[in-house]
Amino acid sequence: APNISVANVQSHLSQFQSIASANGGNRAHGRPGYLASVNWVKSKLDAAGFTTRVQQFTSGGATGYNLIADYPGGDTGNVVMLGGHLDSVTAGPGINDNGSGSASLLEIALQMRATGFQPTKHVRFGWWGAEELGLVGSTYYVNSLATSDRSRIKAYLNFDMTGSPNAGYFVYSASGQPSGSLALQQRLQAGFTSLNVQTELTSVGGRSDHAAFARAGIPVGGTFTGAEGTKTSAQAQKWGGTAGQAFDRCYHRSCDTTSNINATALDRNADVIAYALWATAA
Ligand code: PHE
Ligand code: ZN
Ligand code: ZN
Ligand code: ZN
Repeated sequence: APNISVANVQSHLSQFQSIASANGGNRAHGRPGYLASVNWVKSKLDAAGFTTRVQQFTSGGATGYNLIADYPGGDTGNVVMLGGHLDSVTAGPGINDNGSGSASLLEIALQMRATGFQPTKHVRFGWWGAEELGLVGSTYYVNSLATSDRSRIKAYLNFDMTGSPNAGYFVYSASGQPSGSLALQQRLQAGFTSLNVQTELTSVGGRSDHAAFARAGIPVGGTFTGAEGTKTSAQAQKWGGTAGQAFDRCYHRSCDTTSNINATALDRNADVIAYALWATAA
């Protein structure tokens, strides 16, 4: 797998910040900054040769959008999906939540093309709308699939908050998730081990967009650097950072800007996503 350039991921984050700043300070569902984010990511993927599609839905009286991007080639009966939500809350630009996962997935998609990766499996990305209103976009997508299309998706990897300033290194626990999730958990753990980073398992339950996939029986996994939870002293010893402080003090606030990003955590997670994708889809 390629080593993902954190500078490239950060440049995508700067783009999200600019989009928010030009559109009233956020990228929220139903606001112009959200559609501008969709259009910008789509243009980058189109230029790289992905087949993209914008799926519309309605939530809270406003039109929402999911962006779906298929990488050409691979066995379409054997699909690996990766995704994260592209919307922010209305309070701020949502650079860690979830510009971080969105920008990392974009850079990994671009690197698939740049490196000429030819996986055996078919790879599809999803950037979800209206996560902050209750996982609306990802749920709409899964429900919109015919049973046959749903059964072709063999894995879903979710990335929501991967650059928290006071970062933890969490991998979604496979416990209670569909069978097949353990292999995804272990692959993500192996990615961190290859970087010499210790991890903890976390039960993200229904708190992000993997939930709809899990409900459909699709194996799920993901990584997370922490939100409003407080870092313990044992965690600070293991990972550095500040004990007794939130992983992300700007969670859902106006200060979730490009200053609210731990570049080391962002880089490590992007490298681990690439590691897991290359191993899962090969
Ligand atoms: N989904 C939450 C949000 O967007 C953040 C979160 C991600 C929480 C992963 C737990 C696990 O606000
Ligand atoms: Zn890297
Ligand atoms: Zn959020
Ligand atoms: Zn989120």
